[in-house]
Amino acid sequence: MLSRGNWSGTVGFILASMGSAVGLGNVWRFPYITGQYGGAAFILLYIGCVLAVGIPIMLAEFLIGRKTQRNPVGAFRTLRPGSPWVVIGWLGVLSGFVILSYYAVVGGWVLHYVYLALTHSFAGKSPEQITALFVDMNTHSWLQIFWLGIFMLLSIVIVSRGVASGIEIGNRIMIPLLFVLLLGLLFYALQTDGAATGLEFLLRPQWHKLGPIAVLEALGQALFSLSLGMGTMLTYGSYLSRQTNLVRSACFVGIGDILVAILAGFVVFPLVFNFGLQPSTGPGLIFRTLPIAFAQLPAGYPVALAFFVLLSFAALTSAISLLEVVCAYFVDEQGWSRKKASWTLGIVIFVLGIPSALGEQFLDFMDGLATNYLLPIGALLIAVFTGWVLTREERKEEFGAGEISAFRFVCWSFLIRYVSPVAVILIFLHQLQLF
Ligand code: PFF
Repeated sequence: MLSRGNWSGTVGFILASMGSAVGLGNVWRFPYITGQYGGAAFILLYIGCVLAVGIPIMLAEFLIGRKTQRNPVGAFRTLRPGSPWVVIGWLGVLSGFVILSYYAVVGGWVLHYVYLALTHSFAGKSPEQITALFVDMNTHSWLQIFWLGIFMLLSIVIVSRGVASGIEIGNRIMIPLLFVLLLGLLFYALQTDGAATGLEFLLRPQWHKLGPIAVLEALGQALFSLSLGMGTMLTYGSYLSRQTNLVRSACFVGIGDILVAILAGFVVFPLVFNFGLQPSTGPGLIFRTLPIAFAQLPAGYPVALAFFVLLSFAALTSAISLLEVVCAYFVDEQGWSRKKASWTLGIVIFVLGIPSALGEQFLDFMDGLATNYLLPIGALLIAVFTGWVLTREERKEEFGAGEISAFRFVCWSFLIRYVSPVAVILIFLHQLQLF
């Protein structure tokens, strides 16, 4: 069998997992829904969801990956040969194709905006001219396809170099830089005139907005933001040796992801409110609204550049984890070389991305398919498999001595058997508009 590759150690593994988790979901979606659903009250709720549902599922994925040293399909096949549970793996590989095909289109937009920032394209422009930049990009399909191609090329080059010398090195460079840029931008944003209003928008606890819908939003966001439900963390866990403490790693990644999301909000909203702009949802906030602020801010040039470079690192480190899930399957199960897998599958995903580049409606459809159905179903099945199909002994024996205390093991087992499945079923029923 070909060698699958390994992380060089715990730090490389944590940085890579953090890279997967920290992505576009943190920078635009989290700040917006926080403002919409009650500020600090929502942040507390979100932290609760990450701790009670997200981290337990992440730990389950790490555990299954490390135990089997396999891709998602091979992992379930190894644990329960000949059983239908292998469908979790298939769903994961399918989700990898679906999510990356549109995620890379948005990644391409970000690269285009890095280029625009570099070439001083925002300075002195009116809000209408800034909006025209976005519309222009959207109407020139070849431009989007070009940047989609560049984004996929970068992902392919990193993944084709292997686990330690490609994915790990990419994350070792990009994740610390991402934190430095984030802190620099934070420092800047908090000194602008909009800081007080921006912080108030995010932090004023509005308990009355915390209805059941907010709970479901928080749960769905936790799954997407932590890259759960499709075997990404399982695949990353499969390149681990038993020296790494999985419990600590899962907590570290979960809490780091929350932190980036909150800090991103502290950057985005002071800038938005500084100019009395409207906090809008989704890509509009990042690509239409923020550049209006960059156009008028003192030091707008370095700030815009830092912001879009940060965003491109966040998108790229998540994209490589998505490509890796798909590649790992073809390397492990079909005996492809890593080079062949990354180039072939990367090109297939590039082609699959073209319809999303041609029409935002298709992009929204793919996003809805993944976040409303594929990830929640995957997360539910992973929780049920870990909590109810694996025996207590199977769960227990994978943890090394001292890796998890008896008390934490009982808590985790309870969360993964009862809390996570019920929570995910609720998200799903909500998506189906059954309540
Ligand atoms: N966690 C990423 C984000 O917040 O943007 C998105 C993502 C990456 C989802 C990898 C799923 C995944 F497997």
